Amino acid sequence: MLLKAENVSFAYNPKKPILENVTFEVASGEVVGLVAPSGFGKSTLGKVLAGFLEPKEGTVTIDGAPLPKKCFSPVQLIFQHPEKAVNPKWKMKKILNEAWTPSSADIEKMGIQPSWLNRWPSELSGGELQRFCVLRALSPETKFLICDEMTTMLDVITQAQIWQVVLEYAKENDMGVVVISHEKKLIEHLCTRVVNL
Ligand SMILES: Nc1ncnc2c1ncn2[C@@H]1O[C@H](COP(=O)(O)OP(=O)(O)O)[C@@H](O)[C@H]1O
Ligand SMILES: [Mg+2]
Repeated sequence: MLLKAENVSFAYNPKKPILENVTFEVASGEVVGLVAPSGFGKSTLGKVLAGFLEPKEGTVTIDGAPLPKKCFSPVQLIFQHPEKAVNPKWKMKKILNEAWTPSSADIEKMGIQPSWLNRWPSELSGGELQRFCVLRALSPETKFLICDEMTTMLDVITQAQIWQVVLEYAKENDMGVVVISHEKKLIEHLCTRVVNL
């Protein structure tokens, strides 16, 4: 499968275009790095690729067809700040199982302790919470994962554990991954290809 943004333009303010005629693609099984200085529109492109933002011009397609408007998108976006991506009034078990039901083996592999499932999001550290957000996105229906500074806020051990699970899952399921990061070393280590926006 191929996720492709073709000749995409986007502006929050019509006088200040952010993306101009950008073409970017990621195929199943690829791990593509997306780099650019801060403010250049990496997160914006991530949101366009995942269908969160509609491009003003150009198209986003999977194998030539527009992104499906289903409830669970085959393109999943993971943010830098997990606390902004969860409902603070839901317990972790409900949050994790919203879209699919990971097995206890999946939960263990992601380093989630069963007792955390009964906690509120505010009762977990950023790294613990991000493990939930990542596992929640790894549904069998996920074909592409956009990781926007996914582990930037986390300590190196948590960072390594989460990436190991994601890359293993991507390999087993032939998923395409986009790694948005300003950490050059991380990109060099993880990616099969790097695109400079
Ligand atoms: N919702 C928004 N409304 C207005 N401007 C925004 C919005 N989100 C981002 N921007 C601006 O768009 C530009 C690109 O942002 P972003 O895509 O987050 O860049 P990056 O991820 O590369 O740092 C920045 O100048 C940012 O201030
Ligand atoms: Mg960003």
